[in-house]
Amino acid sequence: MILRAAMSTIVDGKLIADKIKEQLKLRISKYTHLNVKPTLAVIMVGDRKDSETYVRMKKQAAEQLGINFLLYKHDTTISQQQLLNEIDNLNNDNDVDGIIVQMPVPNHIDKRQIISHISVNKDVDGFHGLNIGNLALEGHEPLFIPCTPRGVMEILKHYNVQVKGKHVVVLGKSNIVGLPMSLMLLNELATVTVCHSETVDEEKITRTADILISAVGKPHLVKADWVKDGAVVIDIGINPIIDSTKKTGYRIVGDVDFEEVKKKTSLITPVPGGVGVMTVCMLMSATVESFERKIRNKT
Ligand code: GUN
Repeated sequence: MILRAAMSTIVDGKLIADKIKEQLKLRISKYTHLNVKPTLAVIMVGDRKDSETYVRMKKQAAEQLGINFLLYKHDTTISQQQLLNEIDNLNNDNDVDGIIVQMPVPNHIDKRQIISHISVNKDVDGFHGLNIGNLALEGHEPLFIPCTPRGVMEILKHYNVQVKGKHVVVLGKSNIVGLPMSLMLLNELATVTVCHSETVDEEKITRTADILISAVGKPHLVKADWVKDGAVVIDIGINPIIDSTKKTGYRIVGDVDFEEVKKKTSLITPVPGGVGVMTVCMLMSATVESFERKIRNKT
């Protein structure tokens, strides 16, 4: 008898994002008679290719939904004080519902001060210490939660992946992804193990994961023998690698060796087309929520 492994479900991030975007469009359309729209302000410093790509994706999504998109693009010579002043202006502008500073910023910029300067009510990235703090504290509700882990939770929900009681291994402990991802999973009563650069025998730990989430930024780090049969694998990595067959000279791959790993999983996210599209969609959701909250608080 030949035993064949069941085919893994390949997550379609665009499909989920498109559904959510349709709902967002409806919510936005409720306010057209008042002639008001949600507004997202994006501050970008420098001209990193990856940041330009992300900002372009955010702009396209916003325009597609009817969200005003304000881009403040600066040379790397901008000072800390100039950035703080710009954030002050946006904080005080009642028409602006969301403010993000595209990361990373140049080394002379103190990103912690920049993030904590954004009004907690407009922190649609969910990076402000108060929002992260409230995410961590039982019984507290953050106004916003970081978009990438939120997108992962939406994917798990869409495919009915139970988190409660499962062993989830998160690779990476960054403020933007790994840490808030772990907090959200804990809040859903998963048993969470977080691995990082000093973790010993990482692959031994990943082999015990019911759900493995990688947010490390190392191309093809996660191999098939790191993964338990039937596991769910979520790949948050977005890594450019040289590819001379491409016009651009590179292509984007995840942290997971997708072709090999997918033979063992029950569900896996591809890169691109998995988590990335959801991140942008969640940013749009957060902007619409902020806009709706503003209107509710006015009336
Ligand atoms: N850089 C990489 N991911 C993100 C993100 O979600 N938000 C911001 N502001 N910068 C990023």
